[in-house]
Amino acid sequence: MDKILTLPDTGAHVLSIRAKAQVFHDPASVEVLETVELVAPSGATVLIVGDTGTGKELLARHIHEKSGRGGPFVAVNCGAFSENLIEAELFGHEPGAFTGAQGARAGWFEAAQHGTLFLDEIGDLPLAMQVKLLRVIQERQVVRLGSRRPLDIDVRLVTATNIDLARAVAAGNFRRDLYYRLNVAVVHLPLLRERPDDILPLARHFMEMYRIRLRLDKVDISPQARQALLDYEWPGNIRELENVIHYALIVSRNGLIQSGDLRLHKSVSGVHDRSAPPPEQEISGILPAAIRSLLDTGHPAIYEHVEETLVRQAFARCNGNQVKTASLLGVSRNVVRALLKRFGLLNGAARPVESELSKI
Ligand SMILES: Nc1ncnc2c1ncn2[C@@H]1O[C@H](COP(=O)(O)OP(=O)(O)OP(=O)(O)O)[C@@H](O)[C@H]1O
Ligand SMILES: [Mg+2]
Repeated sequence: MDKILTLPDTGAHVLSIRAKAQVFHDPASVEVLETVELVAPSGATVLIVGDTGTGKELLARHIHEKSGRGGPFVAVNCGAFSENLIEAELFGHEPGAFTGAQGARAGWFEAAQHGTLFLDEIGDLPLAMQVKLLRVIQERQVVRLGSRRPLDIDVRLVTATNIDLARAVAAGNFRRDLYYRLNVAVVHLPLLRERPDDILPLARHFMEMYRIRLRLDKVDISPQARQALLDYEWPGNIRELENVIHYALIVSRNGLIQSGDLRLHKSVSGVHDRSAPPPEQEISGILPAAIRSLLDTGHPAIYEHVEETLVRQAFARCNGNQVKTASLLGVSRNVVRALLKRFGLLNGAARPVESELSKI
């Protein structure tokens, strides 16, 4: 069975490097950091709310590091397991607890003993599991599947979501009682465009990080490229900025990042949106031709239809592998998951688990 975002053995060394490498420059993110550092040592359950790529996991690690807790930091992506698997993953199992359960296995709660358990994408936790999680939080004990013996656990819980959990509660998709349990201390991570003073310091930080990784001597960025970074909307937030800088370093010449080296998605940038689109006859190629004929058909929901066809085809080509689909489409895995969910592709055809260790 593969593991998802599981870092019990990452070690203090890696954590301390990561902690030093954080950039919180804009007043909005300084405020977040201050809140986090107040909350971290308290042991309180923390809910981190933030859009994709805003640094939720980085913050969860920081909370753990500042908590003074001696145990490990364990990260689990709740959306990455099928409904059948997640219970055994979280709580562990005894031999023969279910078909294929060879040997005993500790769950993530046990693995995080005396440390921090980070439950990412908590909004994806199936309702049936939500009630079980609530019980564990209340009783501070877990019972492995196939066992009757409760085990005491001392685990600090940090959860994260990029959906509005209050809305999920209102829609009946998330238990209200669990929501209140998780919602003890809340940290809202602003979008990158809401903390513009972070953009250039983050860009510098990623330039240095990837300069070392790519074994480059020195790198700089032109004033025009800097301005382009400031003008862009950053729908993928810090993760997108990181990818843009990484790519720019690969394609840049003479150690200078120029605007042309920045792969910014023009259609989603407010700046570019305002520019007039080129006239239709100028767009040639198979895709525009296909779209033109689709527009001619008067299909009732063209936008949805194109998006769904693209996602279905990419997902099929990648044999149901979400990470590969995300990379093929050039979007984050969270975006792919949201799309798969929307088009009803998450259960059944999907292969459940994919190692995300390469992300770390
Ligand atoms: N303040 C920061 N300083 C430096 N690097 C950061 C900061 N915040 C985030 N990053 C980096 O940006 C990337 C995305 O961060 P992270 O994985 O924590 O975001 P996330 O909100 O969990 O994303 P996703 O929603 O995609 O899971 C990581 O490589 C992380 O190290
Ligand atoms: Mg994350």
